[in-house]
Amino acid sequence: MATNATVSINTPPPPVLNLRPRSGFANTPFIQELMERGMAYIKAGFAVHFCGPSGSGKTTLAMHLANLLGQPLMLLTGDDQFGTSDLVGGQFGYRRRKVVDNFVHNVLKTEEDMTQRWADSRLTIACREGYTLVYDEFTRSRPEANNVLLSVLEEKLMVLPVARAGNSYLKVHPNFAAIFTSNPEDYAGVHKTQDALRDRMITIYLDYFDKPTETLITSNRAGMDVERAERIVSLVRAFREQSTGELKPTVRAAIMIAKVVELQKFEVSAHDTHFLQVCFDVLGGGLLRSSGLHPLERLKHRQIIAQLAEEFC
Ligand SMILES: Nc1ncnc2c1ncn2[C@@H]1O[C@H](COP(=O)(O)OP(=O)(O)OP(=O)(O)O)[C@@H](O)[C@H]1O
Ligand SMILES: [Mg+2]
Repeated sequence: MATNATVSINTPPPPVLNLRPRSGFANTPFIQELMERGMAYIKAGFAVHFCGPSGSGKTTLAMHLANLLGQPLMLLTGDDQFGTSDLVGGQFGYRRRKVVDNFVHNVLKTEEDMTQRWADSRLTIACREGYTLVYDEFTRSRPEANNVLLSVLEEKLMVLPVARAGNSYLKVHPNFAAIFTSNPEDYAGVHKTQDALRDRMITIYLDYFDKPTETLITSNRAGMDVERAERIVSLVRAFREQSTGELKPTVRAAIMIAKVVELQKFEVSAHDTHFLQVCFDVLGGGLLRSSGLHPLERLKHRQIIAQLAEEFC
């Protein structure tokens, strides 16, 4: 009698995200205008690319746009170590088949064979099923790894390796949409984007948020009333304008100050020394990486922050 056992050891399929609107999302006219532009480009069949400095809201906006599209989401984050298989798929895990034959009861015959199994990766699944792909920080991947996207975006065809049994081309599902984000090319750790890939997407350049948006984000994220959040944001924005280093404080600095103030019940006032100390620590963080640690520089910045706190808080 022969018994046949098949054991498969596979990597789990990539997770599909079903997004719900994030609580605390600040939906101001500034954000709505960006979403309308993004939506118009996607509807016309183009990929959208949010490009801007750190903290300009690229990832949040990409996820929000994906959420508005209403399809399940595949999220990829660019990585220097990525190869084509990370986007397309590859041979992962293995499948072992064992046949034990003891027809003649004192003769035991076993046959074992092992085969690797193909697993589609996130991009392939999104193209196949018509999901939305968010490829965050795609310029952190090497350009060669991203080459497969050229025909996906232009010819709506995905070229598949021979190792994947079946057709060597996958027709991209009409509901497939792609949203990319990147930091400008002068940022550390970023590969120069292939021009051909950039040419296939519509880039929306982001800068810092407008003041009402920055205030609402700070208020929502810190659970602080809008009036006090606005004072903190005014201080951060004024400090940003004076900053000469390449690391200017972003909305994250305002959120950090507001969260600590709210939790510790400090006053948003130049007369509250605890509040001032939080501002020095949060806003000074960028200085360590840009203008250096010179004590005189630090003193100068403390004076500037104290003056701005007098003016705005
Ligand atoms: N519309 C919004 N509503 C609420 N919070 C927001 C909104 N936009 C951005 N934020 C918050 O602002 C911060 C910066 O946004 P985000 O992480 O999207 O920026 P980024 O450009 O992707 O930055 P990085 O380049 O560092 O990844 C985050 O804490 C995010 O949660
Ligand atoms: Mg981001």
